[in-house]
Amino acid sequence: MALDILSKKYLPALEVELRSVINEINGTPYQQLKYMLNYHMGWEGKGAGLQSQGKRIRPLLLLLATNAAGGDWKSALPAAAGIELLHNFSLIHDDIEDKSPTRRNRPTLWQNWGVPQAINTGDALFSLAFVSMSSLDKYYSAEITLNVIRLFENTVLALTKGQFLDISFEDRDEVSIDEYMQMISGKTAALIGTSIEIGAILGNADAETQGAFRDFGTNLGLAFQIQDDYLGIWGDENLTGKSTATDIQEKKKTYPIIYGLNESKSFRKLWNKDSFSENEVEQLARILEASGAREKTRADEEKYINEARTALTRAHPMGEAAVALQTLIDQLMNRSQ
Ligand code: IPE
Ligand code: IPE
Ligand code: MG
Ligand code: MG
Repeated sequence: MALDILSKKYLPALEVELRSVINEINGTPYQQLKYMLNYHMGWEGKGAGLQSQGKRIRPLLLLLATNAAGGDWKSALPAAAGIELLHNFSLIHDDIEDKSPTRRNRPTLWQNWGVPQAINTGDALFSLAFVSMSSLDKYYSAEITLNVIRLFENTVLALTKGQFLDISFEDRDEVSIDEYMQMISGKTAALIGTSIEIGAILGNADAETQGAFRDFGTNLGLAFQIQDDYLGIWGDENLTGKSTATDIQEKKKTYPIIYGLNESKSFRKLWNKDSFSENEVEQLARILEASGAREKTRADEEKYINEARTALTRAHPMGEAAVALQTLIDQLMNRSQ
């Protein structure tokens, strides 16, 4: 099976790497901080296990890109862990910003321990992400390590700018598709694009190939967020592990919602209320579906996936990682989680 490489090699090695970075935090006074970190990573507490660890998609893509560019994936592990830690920092803060009660089938960190400790636990992961990234100098030259850190820093800034737009759109009546694309390019596609680009750099790909891997990642990231928006309304909560009401309740300008606002009078009318009951959330989802938003969201996601596939072909991926990358794209696009 093409994905054996992920479950048998990459994932176990990644978990070891992640744990060793988080073990930087130790000592009696910090036991609860450690516990909150372990809880968020899916390693401790009620419901701990694979279903609460997340898909680890960004580090897996990074390791696959390194391997597919002809490099040794094991030396890329500090970067893979750095990317996943940063992603997890962004989720902890995002759940506070979005007032989301559940993530990965469990109560969010802020629900369990309050906003101040959740912010601080997120900050710990943010810092550890950089600690991990810098330790690439165990395997690579100082120059390559610094280049990767620079790319990473700029990406974190792009993500933060994307989150700014996302939050500011909540108070806007209208948001264009172009503005939406700019927002998701920052909040989601930047980190996915960078994961794959770093993988290519560490695999010693030439500049043109690095660019092709980057384009692959950016388009995959755009499709991934459009699908996240789809699942945020029509997903199965038991599979996504997230609420299907919060995007609507928080007036998020997600892809289907922008479509509904542009195309459906009855959607716009009900949407203009200040807050929604459970029934109204369900009604809004039904009106959206009837307006064609569900199909349109799927179709546009497909457009970006096709762009991603074309870019991947230009990157000329090699060996078993190349096959795994193709399989992974197929799985991601049919995902329910
Ligand atoms: C969720 O990302 C946030 C988005 C950018 C859509 P994932 O769907 O990768 O989350 P986990 O890590 O698998 O839980
Ligand atoms: C995803 O935000 C982007 C980041 C977390 C940086 P969303 O708010 O769209 O993602 P979910 O649906 O909560 O995972
Ligand atoms: Mg959110
Ligand atoms: Mg958000």
